[in-house]
Amino acid sequence: MAEVKQTGLETQSREQWVTRSGFMLAAVGSAVGLGNIWGFSHALGTSGGAAFLLVYLIAIVIIGYPVMMAEFTIGRKAQSDAVGTFEKLAPKTPWFITGLLGVGAAFLIMAFYPVLGGMVAQFFVVFLAGGTAVPEASGPWVGVAWHLIFMIMTVAVVILGVKRGIEKANKFLMPLLAVMLFALAAYGLTLGGARDGLAFMFTPTWASLGDTSMWLTAIGQAFFSLSLGMGALITYSSYLKQQERLPGTAAGVVGMDTGIAILAGIMIFPAVFAFGHDPAGGGTLVFGTLPAVFGEMGAYGGLFGAAFFFLLGIAALSSAVSLLEVPVAYFMRRFNMVRQKATLVVATIMTIIGLPITFGVWYDTDFVYGIAATFLLPLGGLFICLFVGWGWNKNEALSSSDFGDSTLGIIWLWILRIVAPALIAILFVYKVIDVVKNGF
Ligand code: TRP
Repeated sequence: MAEVKQTGLETQSREQWVTRSGFMLAAVGSAVGLGNIWGFSHALGTSGGAAFLLVYLIAIVIIGYPVMMAEFTIGRKAQSDAVGTFEKLAPKTPWFITGLLGVGAAFLIMAFYPVLGGMVAQFFVVFLAGGTAVPEASGPWVGVAWHLIFMIMTVAVVILGVKRGIEKANKFLMPLLAVMLFALAAYGLTLGGARDGLAFMFTPTWASLGDTSMWLTAIGQAFFSLSLGMGALITYSSYLKQQERLPGTAAGVVGMDTGIAILAGIMIFPAVFAFGHDPAGGGTLVFGTLPAVFGEMGAYGGLFGAAFFFLLGIAALSSAVSLLEVPVAYFMRRFNMVRQKATLVVATIMTIIGLPITFGVWYDTDFVYGIAATFLLPLGGLFICLFVGWGWNKNEALSSSDFGDSTLGIIWLWILRIVAPALIAILFVYKVIDVVKNGF
């Protein structure tokens, strides 16, 4: 098979996924990441458990799935990056700003994501070496080193390109992740905290359903976990040939992402309860509580710890790849750069923005995550809904989505037109008021 020349010129043929499962696995690889394990357990733990899970599932069905279908549909149709997709489908209109917003969000998320990814890698090595905690005195330079190591791994995959890098990496990493997660969840259930852990996750306290800030958290978490609102899935689906059934693929991606988040909860919360820790540890759950739990487990704790952080590292890497790919694809076309150059330029800027986080100055992970997940992604998602629902041609949308003129297609369209935008807009206003009153 002839290699497609890697170039930003549109006249050259664009890269494509090679195999049928390549696209779906890459989309799952993008979706399943720190958001499912660090973010989901953080949100579930601090928002009171099962009630949050219920709201999250509702958000996934009425906002997550329809928005994912919208991104898949326009990306495959336009065969271009996050910005170019809007320029192509709606020339000479301001819709392309949606794509620019996404490229901006990618820089922001990639400021902190590799910092966490680096911490994961560091913990993996610590557990492998028989320790249970990152040495206190290690100082900021060690953090910077791990930040860079994670970034370099991400860059390596993206430089190899769509089929030799992204597709190959995900084909290897995703099955490995699934097997390890099942094994770890099964082990977690034997630790004696299963009853409390599962009750915490699956028995809702109905009163907490009235909490609007929990709804916001759930929607933001849905966007982040499913990689929505930023054009990552527009970009991935632009490497797709026509013969894919998008509704089924999107359902598979949503199902796997949600299943893996729940499985991660099943491995984390029983262990947390078994050793009497607080499930509402927030950001410290994965990087503080869990290492402590592994440390208390005795003989197998170190192994469990190493396996857990290895798994988390895989998930983080495949997601970071998709985050980096959004601006890379845009830079290749817009500034006519070859893949290597675009990747290096973009990654360097991202690393510089991320350094203050590693050093613990100016702004931190929670702040940047908050801006991205609760503002930029839902806003991007809102524009994507409005574009496909109102800005584009109705018949074009239905046929390009593979829904056709079916009942499901009509429901999808009306969700994009009214239901999802209204929900996002209302929650957005609530959030702005909340932030103005109480800060992040
Ligand atoms: N979904 C990933 C996670 O759960 C993070 C991610 C990757 C992402 N690509 C994205 C989030 C695009 C928003 C947009 O960790």
